[in-house]
Amino acid sequence: MREPNIYGSDTLDAELAPQFAPATSDLPPWGKTTVVGAAVPRIDGHDRVGGTAIYTRDIALPGMLHCAIVHSPHAHAMVKRIDTTAAKAMPGVHAIITCDSPEAKIPWILTNQGAFSQLLDPHCRYEGEEVAAIAAETPLQAADAARMIVVEYDVLPMVVNYEVATKPDAPKLHAVGNQPSPARTSQRGDVEAAFAKADAVVERTFHTSCEMHVPLEVHGSVAQWDSGKLEVWDSTQGVYAVRDSLALALKLPLSSVRVSSHFMGGGFGGKLELGKYTVFAAVLARMTGRAVKCVLTREDTLRSVGNRPANTISIKAAARKDGTLLALDATLLGASGAYPTGATSSYMLLDLYTCANVRAVESSVLINAGQARAFRAPGYPQAAWALEQVMDELAGKLGMDPVEFRLKNIPVVSQLRSGQPYTSTGLADCLRDGAEKFGWAAARKRPANKGHVKRGIGIAAGMWGSPGGPTATVILKLYADGSANVNSGAADIGTGTKTIFAQVVAEELGVPVERVSVENADTGTTQYAPSSGGSQTVLVTTPAVRSAAADVKTPLLALAAEELKIDVDKLTIRDGNIEIAGDTKKVPFSALRSLAQRQQLVGVGRRAPHPVGKVGLPFAAHFAEVEVNTRTGEVRVVRYVAAQDSGRVMNALTFENQVLGGVTMGIGFGLTEQRVLDRQTGKLASGSWHDYKIPTAMDFPVDFQCVPIDLQDKECNSVGAKGLGEPATIPAAAAIANAVCNAIGARIYDAPITPASIVNALASKGGK
Ligand code: MOS
Repeated sequence: MREPNIYGSDTLDAELAPQFAPATSDLPPWGKTTVVGAAVPRIDGHDRVGGTAIYTRDIALPGMLHCAIVHSPHAHAMVKRIDTTAAKAMPGVHAIITCDSPEAKIPWILTNQGAFSQLLDPHCRYEGEEVAAIAAETPLQAADAARMIVVEYDVLPMVVNYEVATKPDAPKLHAVGNQPSPARTSQRGDVEAAFAKADAVVERTFHTSCEMHVPLEVHGSVAQWDSGKLEVWDSTQGVYAVRDSLALALKLPLSSVRVSSHFMGGGFGGKLELGKYTVFAAVLARMTGRAVKCVLTREDTLRSVGNRPANTISIKAAARKDGTLLALDATLLGASGAYPTGATSSYMLLDLYTCANVRAVESSVLINAGQARAFRAPGYPQAAWALEQVMDELAGKLGMDPVEFRLKNIPVVSQLRSGQPYTSTGLADCLRDGAEKFGWAAARKRPANKGHVKRGIGIAAGMWGSPGGPTATVILKLYADGSANVNSGAADIGTGTKTIFAQVVAEELGVPVERVSVENADTGTTQYAPSSGGSQTVLVTTPAVRSAAADVKTPLLALAAEELKIDVDKLTIRDGNIEIAGDTKKVPFSALRSLAQRQQLVGVGRRAPHPVGKVGLPFAAHFAEVEVNTRTGEVRVVRYVAAQDSGRVMNALTFENQVLGGVTMGIGFGLTEQRVLDRQTGKLASGSWHDYKIPTAMDFPVDFQCVPIDLQDKECNSVGAKGLGEPATIPAAAAIANAVCNAIGARIYDAPITPASIVNALASKGGK
């Protein structure tokens, strides 16, 4: 079966690129830029940190009601009876829907095997699954009424251990069984023959824990009906994606649904899709004729709206004495949660290094827990955790420096994409420049320190396999006073998208950044852009911004030439002025009468297709230094260098910021974050920020360096940038694991590395 595609990048490939891109998007590559690449502070920075930015939760409409949700307390149960009599009589209650209501039947988790659930499903497959929703005058009245709904359940046998869930006698979540998709095998060459020729072989099994997204802004929506049309404010990475699914769920034409997300406080992949909370708000608003707000609690977000699935990855790898990687043979198993979703990715195993003989067998399994979702490079940090530790061990067996070993196996083409060349391949540069900035060679020669706090260094590499979606349209308006407005449906999920749009306009059209306003993420008023996911926003949408700016430039110069009676070839545009060759006089845009008469010039920009026969993908190499306290098992990351090949740096500040955030998430994945489900009850035992530990500034190394590798990629797209947000987190945990191994002389195969696992590893190598 075809699972909801959050992992595959193939549908986002060149064949879907627009065939109608106008000439303006065929712009020549930029050379040196002045505004693009500079350390421009975020245009909305003060709003975000000063508390004036309006997030979904801040929306308050006249007469708005509040929604509360009733959840199954059981990990696996069937609703026998549900009684709303008492709840309906509670003060302030306006409407209730339960799994008995007609609205409950809206199909949910759509796959090509059909729908796996419905909006309110009497068959509850994890603790926290929704069985009823209430709209009341105040949030507290809604919460009180939710507690008055009486639900009787038939409790069913459950399974939360994903390795157990694959067994034939495990409790089944769906009639089709716990593995509705067959295992998928990807292979090339002859793995067995390659192992027979190997000088060194390493075979290991790794486990990674389930990690939660934990965006600062929780998920939520406000819905209101206006003249038969539905308006929704949502905290989402993709207003168009939410609109499409919502229209489908409610059987409405796309033109009757408007979704907007003005400010958005983080998503990391967990906010790419339509949430049940959005549908609850829309349905309850329709029933009551009032606006309805439905915002999840923090606990709900930890249970119900996605996670990075736990993986078990076994790898057998072989190399020759000279450092040639000969073979990789891997099996990957991922925990999808209660509903099917691909929970592994073998992309990096198949493409990060040149390797003639590779086999990867991937499967996913259902368990009684919240469904996995895309999470910042879905599957890649798990694969890096395994692959990059095996590479480290292989290097050790060969007596090679781990950086040198990787440099021996740099890919020149994408083996997974039928040998397509890369538009640029910065992996070797990441390794070399990163090693130099880190002082890798000198640190390798350092004698082991005495005392109980051991220091170690580690390196890991990574790549991201999606070149971004095909299409985006942008409208740019240049006003008579020389200021400009960019209109794009792209969400700024906290990465600085809006600021980069303004910089692109400044670069191309000469309007200063502070005179550019950005209107975004509203299906009612802004142009189509793909969801801000897959590290694609800059590379898909900014070429369209550039194209729109260029589309305004030509008529603007023509107007100026006519008005100033100067040959158009003598005119250039800079800093909001028309400059005349051989003349020091500058004419501001606002002084052009012909522009004022027209009120505005409007440019339309689209993005050109991906380059034909080539692919532009980002690479990274991370270097970590850790201190391990062998008495307490505490690990501290004390020094870090992240080298990233993401093409052109669009903004020096937001670039470093993405890398810093990616490394922070990697520290969490490698050292502290772990969803814990109770094996007896299936209940979430880490449902708060006390029990689920995300790293803070205190856990981040003071000595941190981000090293951008800008190879001047002139082919990937018209701005020369590749993805960054996801590649910045992929190798981080693996680099830390390799550093821990270097520090204590014992390898830890399971993430996160906890004080207990350090102590166990030391004990098993005979220490104390
Ligand atoms: Mo990402 S996991 O595609 O937001």
